[in-house]
Amino acid sequence: MTPSDVKATLSFSDGSPSIDLPLYSGSIGPDVIDIRKLYAQTGKFTYDPGFLSTASCQSAITYIDGDKGELLYRGSPIAQIAPPCDFLEVCHLLLKGELPNEKQKADFSSLVMHHTMVNEQMQFFLRGFRRDAHPMAVMTGLVGALSAFYHDSTDIHNAAHREIAAIRLIAKMPTLVSMAYKYGTGQPYIYPRNNLSYSANFMRMMFATPCEEYEPNDVLVRAIDRIFILHADHEQNASTSTVRLCGSSGTNPFAAIAAGVACLWGPAHGGANEAALNMLEEIQRNGGVEKIGDFIKQVKDKNSSVKLMGFGHRVYKNYDPRAKLMRETCHEVLEALGLHDDPLFKLAMSLEKIALEDDYFVSRKLYPNVDFYSGIVQRALGIPVSLFTAIFALARTVGWIAQLNEMIGDPEYKIGRPRQLFVGAARRDVTPVAQR
Ligand code: SDX
Repeated sequence: MTPSDVKATLSFSDGSPSIDLPLYSGSIGPDVIDIRKLYAQTGKFTYDPGFLSTASCQSAITYIDGDKGELLYRGSPIAQIAPPCDFLEVCHLLLKGELPNEKQKADFSSLVMHHTMVNEQMQFFLRGFRRDAHPMAVMTGLVGALSAFYHDSTDIHNAAHREIAAIRLIAKMPTLVSMAYKYGTGQPYIYPRNNLSYSANFMRMMFATPCEEYEPNDVLVRAIDRIFILHADHEQNASTSTVRLCGSSGTNPFAAIAAGVACLWGPAHGGANEAALNMLEEIQRNGGVEKIGDFIKQVKDKNSSVKLMGFGHRVYKNYDPRAKLMRETCHEVLEALGLHDDPLFKLAMSLEKIALEDDYFVSRKLYPNVDFYSGIVQRALGIPVSLFTAIFALARTVGWIAQLNEMIGDPEYKIGRPRQLFVGAARRDVTPVAQR
């Protein structure tokens, strides 16, 4: 970050001494005001619940411009990455800063694909869950449990440990997600195949059975690979900030990623794709396109807690670039599967059109986000709704790890410890129980 010639001067109307605060510029995006000395110099905190105006760190990994609807992975626009690259190339880009050349790609893919098995003991964790447990409950447990197996990669301050932990997490998430799925169906787990691509291997572990050969469908494999790419990283979102804060205590990478899984589960965040599909199915049950107007009325009614799931974003106040690519993928998959008349896809496009013409959404800059179409694609791929967020967690694991490693690799990092504005009872004595 580059010191700016401009200073910020903070003055107080009560005549308290004003202070100068340095400004820093990044390579693109808003400048920051450095308030690290504010409390020492003024005895005051800043106040920014939800961190709408707060940069928690400096990062070189992902940049989003909410007004332009722009997403860059290590400087490259997502629309240039998503079609030609595959997910493991994007993992290499996010972790190492550059897309791999042919040899680097082959070596990285081989390294990842030779870490796809999990310890056989892991299956006994699953037996402890009810068969109908939510896959995110299972994943939160399984990812945290990885730290019980890999003692040679739990020291977050050891660069070699960070490197192998990153490979293990990227490699094993598809295995764990497919195990969570198979456990819920009562089908046997399918072991990974190292001779398949990352995404073909995942589709096989999900949908193969021991009873017959499973041939991955290239269109479906490409679609799931695209879903992984579009969900890989997204700046300092809630779950990434959770991973950074959790990792800042020096805990092991598996525990920090498990914290990210738990945060992603929420319907305002990664759980929105599940919620968006459930919303579309409910509208479909209640009358479909003809009933969109009634639904929109509910959304606008402040007394109802109904939100248009898959719409709106803390940062994007324009169309989420991932939603555009996801809609294209949706169309490709439905065409390939002969589902071009899929009623939910038609309903989603009608809902999007109506919302984008309605002043309630336009005035609040509410546009479709990545979750609006991803559920329809995943449903077409045969993935159950309850597994959507686990798929999101699988994809986001590389982003969480890249961000965690960037933080730990920053000599300036400290344990995260926000303060508060205290509005509770001021000092008072304890009343003896007989007088309470
Ligand atoms: C993800 O941060 C990331 O980068 C996340 C993510 C990633 O890749 O990591 O992009 C993934 O989480 C995408 C977002 C998925 N969530 C949803 O689709 C759930 C529905 N969306 C909303 O819950 C909401 O839009 C948020 C939480 C996403 C963003 O909320 P903000 O920015 O805090 O906006 P807000 O809640 O302050 O809303 C501003 C106004 C409010 O109305 P008023 O009080 O001004 O009258 O817009 C309204 C809100 O009520 N509003 C919505 C709405 N989202 C906001 N109204 C109806 N439907 C919605 N979806």
